[in-house]
Formats: sequence, C-alpha cells, structure tokens
Amino acid sequence: RQKLQEYNTIEDAVELLKISQNIIVLTGAGISTSLGIPDFRSKDTGLYSRLAHLGLSDPQEVFDIHVFRDDPSIFFSVAKDILPTEKKFSPTHAFICLLQDKGKLLTNYTQNIDNIEANAGLLPEKIVQCHGSFATATCIKCRLKVSGDELFGTIKEGKIPECVSCKQQLSARPQGMKRKRSSNGVPKSRKRSNKDSSDSEDYEIPSPGVMKPDITFFGEDLPDEFSRRLIRHDCDLADLVIVIGTSLKVAPVAEVPGILPRNVPQIYISRTPVSHVGFDIDMLGDCDVVVSELCRRAGWDLKHEMIPAD
Ligand code: OAD
Repeated sequence: RQKLQEYNTIEDAVELLKISQNIIVLTGAGISTSLGIPDFRSKDTGLYSRLAHLGLSDPQEVFDIHVFRDDPSIFFSVAKDILPTEKKFSPTHAFICLLQDKGKLLTNYTQNIDNIEANAGLLPEKIVQCHGSFATATCIKCRLKVSGDELFGTIKEGKIPECVSCKQQLSARPQGMKRKRSSNGVPKSRKRSNKDSSDSEDYEIPSPGVMKPDITFFGEDLPDEFSRRLIRHDCDLADLVIVIGTSLKVAPVAEVPGILPRNVPQIYISRTPVSHVGFDIDMLGDCDVVVSELCRRAGWDLKHEMIPAD
C-alpha cells in the first residue's frame, strides 16, 4: 500500500493530529523520566547503566525469566526501587489522555510497567500493557494470582514475596516434609537424604512458590491482547501512529510500526533518534515539550503544569 501524501514537518504533524480519528500511541519509558523514573537504556541515567554491581553479563537479565526462576533475589533487589508509588503523571501522559477525551485515541500500547497511564485518567479499555505491570502477581508454582500491591510492603523491605497458598499447603503437611531455607533466605527446593528416618528413600523438601509480578520478562509471551487487538482490530482502523519515548529495541513491540499498513502516517517523538525504523516525521527532544508545542499549535488546551527542568 502506498502513502497518499508526504508528511515531514511539525505543521504536518499538527494537521495529522487534527484530522485523525483513530490514533495509536506507542509509548516507552521516556514518557515517565520527567517524573524521576529512569528509562532503561539512556547512557548514564538508564536503569541498566546502574546495575553493574549485580555482576550480570547483560543487565537485561534482571528481567529474564530463566534468571528469575534460578535466583529471584536478583530481580527483587532491583524491583524495590522501581515499584509504582506516587499518583503522578507527566504532560505526555496528559496528552494521551487529551487524545482520548477528544475521541481520537484508538489504543495506547505501553511498554511501561509503572501503571501511570491510569493515574492520568486513561480508561482501561484504551490501554494495552504490552509488558504487563506490577498491578497483579502470580505464584510461579501454583499460579495463584493476587493484587500486586499486597506484595509491595515485602518487596520494599528487599524480601522475596512467597505464595500464601503454597505456604498453607506446606504447613498442613507432616513435620518431616517441611521446607528448608537456604542461607540467603531464598527458598529452594532440593533433595535430601534422610538417613535417620524410618523411610530411607530420598524425598523432595518442598518450598512455597515465589510471587512474580505480572511483568512480561524476556523469555515470556506478551499478553494475548497485544497481538489480538493489534492484528484483528487496530490494524484496519488506525489512521495515525505516534511513537513516544522508546528506543524500539525490544521485539515484538518494536515491530509494530512495520506491521501497520504503510499508508498510516507515523510520527516519532524522543530524545534519541532511531535508525532501524523510518518514520514520516521525527520530532527529537523532550517529549513533554514536544507534545505541549503540538497542542499549542493545534489550539488544544493541555491541562498539565510543565515540570521545570532539573
Ligand atoms: P529505553 O530506555 O530503551 O528507551 C527510552 C527512550 O526514551 C530513549 O530513546 C530515550 O532517549 C528516550 N527518552 C528518555 N527520556 C525522554 C524524555 N523526557 N523525552 C523524550 N524522550 C526521552 O526504554 P523502552 O524503549 O521503554 O522491558 O524499553 C523497552 C523495554 O525494555 C522495557 O519495557 C523494558 C526494557 O527491558 C521490561 O521491563 C520487560
């Protein structure tokens, strides 16, 4: 499919905002940095640049499901600092909300796990949390699901949250079958030879499952809703795509601009340019400043105080 028209300038972007009725907004960590929440890959300020002390071969391993299963303490040593806490939002979140209020927002596909879209007033049916969130958590053993904030206290204390259901089941077992803890406090399942027991066979010392926040780790599938909604619904309806504050380094979200029909204009707003995706209009800079200027030129009232620069 061919583009019907060329779009290049900020005036074109303003015009597209005005005429479009089904806008996809694809967001990343850059829309929350003005709130003091680090992104992942910015050179000196991103979360991954701060994890050298963990001694990982790649800092992304913090969010790797195999590493988590092996040693959940690595993730929880970082999780305590990235929990969603304050009910605040940035001008860019307010901008996405404004698109919703004007009836122009088709979907906000967010890679963010901070849940801040809801603070700004985005309706749940307008959000796809591509990488999940801290809103719920699931036991990796028995799959019990709980509300995420039930675990926040434990996580903030730097402890590993354990499954209450598994614990109950274990306490109902005979004494000799109770779990043992490893020295670092991480519950481990392991084999033990019980020579003194009347039953001379080895048996498994069970342990409760660890509660894993429902964030999509590397090695896990994205929520079904991501591809279902994108392919079966939004692809046919979208008339504009605005990508904001993401390096587009993580698939499959990074593939969204390429999946959409080529006649859908694409705008990129971020501090850092990307070379692996060709957008119609690149607006490089602070996203809060860029969206505020777009609204000003469109004659729209963006109701959010600008956050003063540090
Ligand atoms: P990145 O850290 O990779 O990219 C953030 C982008 O936003 C960078 O290009 C920054 O230059 C830009 N940026 C930062 N602050 C900005 C600002 N105030 N205004 C405009 N641009 C700004 O973060 P993501 O692309 O979101 O996965 O990362 C994608 C995924 O990788 C995350 O969801 C996370 C991570 O591994 C999981 O947690 C599972």
